[in-house]
Amino acid sequence: MKEINYDQLERWVREAGKMMLDAHLNRDTVHEKAGGANFVTDYDVAIQQFLIARFRTLLPEAGYYGEEDTEGVDRSSAAEYVFYIDPIDGTTNFMLGYPQSCVSVGLAYRGRMAAGFIYNPYTDQMYRGIRGRGSTLNGRPLRVDDSKGVADGLIGFDCIRYNEGTGETIDILFQAVKELYRTALATREGGSAALGLVQVASGAHVAYIQMVLKPYDYAAASVIVEEAGGIITRMDGSPLPLDGTSSALCGTRRAWAEAKEIVAQAERDIRGDRGSNE
Ligand code: IPD
Ligand code: CA
Ligand code: CA
Repeated sequence: MKEINYDQLERWVREAGKMMLDAHLNRDTVHEKAGGANFVTDYDVAIQQFLIARFRTLLPEAGYYGEEDTEGVDRSSAAEYVFYIDPIDGTTNFMLGYPQSCVSVGLAYRGRMAAGFIYNPYTDQMYRGIRGRGSTLNGRPLRVDDSKGVADGLIGFDCIRYNEGTGETIDILFQAVKELYRTALATREGGSAALGLVQVASGAHVAYIQMVLKPYDYAAASVIVEEAGGIITRMDGSPLPLDGTSSALCGTRRAWAEAKEIVAQAERDIRGDRGSNE
C-alpha cells in the first residue's frame, strides 16, 4: 500500500463538515428519494462531489462507493483503493436541525478497510482509525473496555423505514431492543449509524445494533471500532461485506457476544426456529 497523507484526508473531511454547518436548508434544497421518509439535500450531493474532487488529487486511481449518484461513483469494491463516502450520515437529523449527523469517509485497500474518518461538525469531534496504528478521538487514543457487558452501559441502535420497513425485520429489532433495554443502563437511538457505531470505540456505547445498512454507513466506523479493540460484524457474527446490504452488530467483546445472543433469541421469537440473520 502507498504512503497515504491521512492528515490531508482528515482536513478535507473537516472542511466537508464545515459545509454542513454553513448549510441553508429550505424547500428548494431538500428532495425526497424513493422508499418513503427518505430525503437527500443539495448538501449531501455537494459534499460528496467536494470530497471526490479532493481525493482524486491524492489517489487518482481510487474507486468510489458513495451514497449519492454523483460522477465517479460506481459502487463497486473492485478497485485496489476504494473510498467509501457517506457525505452526510443522519440526513433526516441534518434537515430537521437535530444536531447529530456526520461526514463519514473510509478508505479500503484490496478489499480491506485501511482507514476511517468520522466527523461530527456540531460537536467538533473527529474519530479517526488507521489500520495498525490505532484509533483516536480528536487525537486522543481510544481503547474499548472489554470487561463491560450489556448491563454496564448504553446500547445504541437505529432503524429507518426506508431500510428496515414495517415487517418482520423491525419486529426482530424492537424485540431485541426491548430485551436490551431491560438489561442495559439505557438505550439510545441517535439517527446516525456511523456516529452510533463509533460510540463503541469511544466507550459511550457498550454495543450498537442495526438490521439494515449499506457499506458507506459502516465502512469508516468499522476500522475505527476495530482499531480501538471493539468487535463489528453482521448480526450472525460473520464479517461485514464491503458491497451490498448488511446488518451490523458492534460492541466490546463481551457486550457483542451478549447482544448477539439476544438478537438471535429475538429472531427465533419472531420467526420461529427457522430463520437466520443477515
Ligand atoms: C441513515 C442513518 C440512520 C440509519 C439508516 C441510514 P443516511 O443514513 O445512518 O441512522 O438508521 O439506516 O441509512 O440516510 O442519513 O445517510
Ligand atoms: Ca448513511
Ligand atoms: Ca447519507
